[in-house]
Parts: sequence; C-alpha cells; structure tokens
Amino acid sequence: MRKTLVAANWKMHGTKAFAEQLLAELNSGLESGECSAEVVICPPFPYLGVVGAAAENVEQVALGAQNLSEQPSGAYTGEVSAEMLLDCGARYVIVGHSERRSLYGESSELVAAKFAAAKSAGLMPILCVGESLQEREAGNTLKVIAEQIQAVVDLDLENTWQSAVIAYEPVWAIGTGKTASPEQAQEVHQFIRQQLGEAGPATQILYGGSVKAANAAELFAREDIDGALVGGASLQADEFIKICRAAD
Ligand code: PGA
Repeated sequence: MRKTLVAANWKMHGTKAFAEQLLAELNSGLESGECSAEVVICPPFPYLGVVGAAAENVEQVALGAQNLSEQPSGAYTGEVSAEMLLDCGARYVIVGHSERRSLYGESSELVAAKFAAAKSAGLMPILCVGESLQEREAGNTLKVIAEQIQAVVDLDLENTWQSAVIAYEPVWAIGTGKTASPEQAQEVHQFIRQQLGEAGPATQILYGGSVKAANAAELFAREDIDGALVGGASLQADEFIKICRAAD
C-alpha cells in the first residue's frame, strides 16, 4: 500500500516570522485531527532550520528543500549540496520543478544529475515532470513525460526509483487555477507507473498544479495518484490541512 504524501512547495515566499507562524498552525491543525498523510514542507533555503525545528516533534511532518546542486562540494558560489541539506535535517528535495527548467534553463540531463546527487547522499528526490500547454495540444504529453523520465533512467543508477518520489505537474496547471481533471491526471500517472518497471507499484506519484482543498479528494481517489505537490495553497494553514485530510 502506498501512503498518501502531501508536499508543500513554498517557492520564494515568506519571512522567518511567517514560517514560524505557519508551522505552529500546521502542527496544531495536524495534531488535533485524524490525518493519515505523510507531510513534507519545502521552505526556501534560509528557513530550513526554522521549519526543521518546528517540525522536529511532529512525526508525520518531514523537511524538504526546493533545489540542490548536482555537485558534492567545491567552488560553486551560491549552490547548496545534498550533504548540506541532509545536515540541516532535510529528508526530501524537489528536483526539476518546471520553474527551474523554464526560468533557469535546467535540462533533463542536469535534473537527472541532481536526482542522482540527492539519492547518493540519502535524500529522497521528488522528481517533477510535466508538459506545457503547447505540448499537450500537440498530443505530445506522454512523449514529453517519457523523455523527462528517461534522462534519469539513462544514468543507470542502482534501484533508481526506490526511495524516490515523482510529481506530475502539467505546466499549464501550475499557479493558474486550472487543475488537470482527475481523468487527465490519472492517465499520465498510470503511464508514469508503467515507465518505472518493477519499482512502479511501490513508488509514490504525486499530482501538482493548482491543488486546493476543493479538488484534492477527487484527485487522491484515483488509483495512481498518491498525493500532491502543493504551491499556492500550501501557504495557508487551513487550506493545506484540508488537503492533507483529503487523504482520509
Ligand atoms: P500551485 O503550484 O499549487 O501553486 O499550482 C504547484 C507547484 O508549482 O509545485
């Protein structure tokens, strides 16, 4: 049985005070009611310590980062390594978010190298894949997803998909208020699971793109949708807690 995982991607939002307040609200909200989901909070780098400390005693909440370097250490000004994240208490790291791919020019090969760096340090990568609107309209959705996954497969890592998470995030659904329908998402999730081979049945595949309390339950009800990567709605404690509870 795959557990539902709900990951918060705060992107470049918040302050230290905001992070402390949001975590306090999340902790009390999660403690006060049933919630079977695993929860991962991915704040901006400077707030990893604050969030990590606040989440330390909440069993179901883990710390994640939004990016990492593909290099282990060295003269890479401005970069953060997998070991450093681990040292700060992170257990997860997002790799290949579409904003990294489109705004910072990250290729699928670089994303794959980051995936490998995370795994070799013992971090769980959350590999984001997804098609643009243009690619969907041209009928290329599954081809694009297959290529993004293949870049990781090509590295021929040991147990590639063990201790890894995949997030399907259609680019046209991110931050737009437009969610993929449960049918559209399920089709891609099922396809991704097939691509994973033997590891497929155990790997959590999250959906991301305008997930909110109002649509989470119908997405989570689909066979191959194992949770969500949540952007905007993860910045409001009430809304995010409702999404986590939708796992039940
Ligand atoms: P959104 O972002 O929930 O605001 O659409 C999701 C993401 O970018 O991970």
